[in-house]
Amino acid sequence: MSASKLLRPSADYKDSYLAALAEYHAEGRYLYCNIPILKGDFESYITALRTERGYPHQPYQEWVEPAPETITWLVKDDQYIGTVDIRHRLNWHLEKWGGHIHFIIRPSMRGKGFGKKILLKAIPIANYLGINKALLTVAPHNHVAIRVIEDCGGKFEDELPETGQFPARKRYWLDCT
Ligand SMILES: CC(C)(COP(=O)(O)OP(=O)(O)OC[C@H]1O[C@@H](n2cnc3c(N)ncnc32)[C@H](O)[C@@H]1OP(=O)(O)O)[C@@H](O)C(=O)NCCC(=O)NCCS
Repeated sequence: MSASKLLRPSADYKDSYLAALAEYHAEGRYLYCNIPILKGDFESYITALRTERGYPHQPYQEWVEPAPETITWLVKDDQYIGTVDIRHRLNWHLEKWGGHIHFIIRPSMRGKGFGKKILLKAIPIANYLGINKALLTVAPHNHVAIRVIEDCGGKFEDELPETGQFPARKRYWLDCT
């Protein structure tokens, strides 16, 4: 059994990643990722994930200034466990609804402590990318994520109400120094 680690996306974890993607689809996430297409050309997908691209927040990607993003995967025993996206800076959208850091654990691996592990491991990477204080935004009813953020040292800033276009968000700052 090996320790979990954060790595750049790699085709080495293709099978477990695609299995996780099917789990994410079942809860309505990442539906824009087509599993049969990715299966056929996983290398191109990995190349895209490893390119520090602008944050493609759908359906608002046309509206916001792109912010470079570093994507890493939490891997344990050669299996994909989860993803953390670190945006190098905020734009108006990330400042309110996306934050610097987004983290997710594949549904079948939740409740085993990986949520805290992935966020704690993201902190030095954020620091390396020049982020001293990282913003995290979370739905007010997402009690598990709030617990992870607070347990990792996140300090509550405020709660933004739902608007016609955007959902409500609690905002937290995480010291990355
Ligand atoms: C948020 C998320 C990453 C947490 O991952 P996880 O691996 O389940 O988290 P952990 O196992 O580290 O659990 C964190 C804490 O929540 C508690 N917890 C876990 N599942 C729970 C549940 N269903 N109900 C209540 N508490 C729960 C754990 O007991 C733990 O607290 P403890 O350390 O005091 O015991 C995961 O639920 C997820 O991927 N959610 C969807 C994406 C998301 O919301 N990301 C956050 C965006 S900011």
